Amino acid sequence: MTSSSGAFKVLGIHISMKTFKDYQLLTQQALSLIEGEMDLIANLSNISALLNMNMTDINWVGFYLLRDNQLVLGPFQGNVACVRIALDKGVCGKAFSTNTIQRISDVHAFPGHIACDAASSSEIVLPINVDGKTYAVLDIDSPMLDRFTETDQKGLRFFIEQVEQKLGFNACNDLK
Ligand code: SME
Repeated sequence: MTSSSGAFKVLGIHISMKTFKDYQLLTQQALSLIEGEMDLIANLSNISALLNMNMTDINWVGFYLLRDNQLVLGPFQGNVACVRIALDKGVCGKAFSTNTIQRISDVHAFPGHIACDAASSSEIVLPINVDGKTYAVLDIDSPMLDRFTETDQKGLRFFIEQVEQKLGFNACNDLK
């Protein structure tokens, strides 16, 4: 299957995203979307759209990519956002520099949180690793307090672990 027919196949299938199984199903859709495609920007664009199509109560979902020792805005869905984030700043910087998932129930209580959109109240950020190197983070924001559950965290971790090798990070000469 080509990646364009894969994209077509998943359009219109909505998943409620309540259980870990829902995340497994979403992961299958993501793998089908990116199958055979190694263009990083195309894949990240479709992955952010897929998450946005299926997750409820979110106001931003997208990627920050490591470029020149900073996190730089990548493909996303949502309002315009901060372009550059220092590696030791914000929820994204913390997730990146510690290589750990940050699940923040109230961003206003997080020291150093970077408010790109005043409407955001909770946030989850997952580091993306390929062959032992952290290349990027996936950031998801919500206007609801405490939007992201432990199930969301486990599901999103599974999702990222399954797709991260296949997105095209290691084929992208631009990211050094
Ligand atoms: N809130 C993030 C910045 C990115 S925006 O939410 C899109 C942070 O504190 O790192």
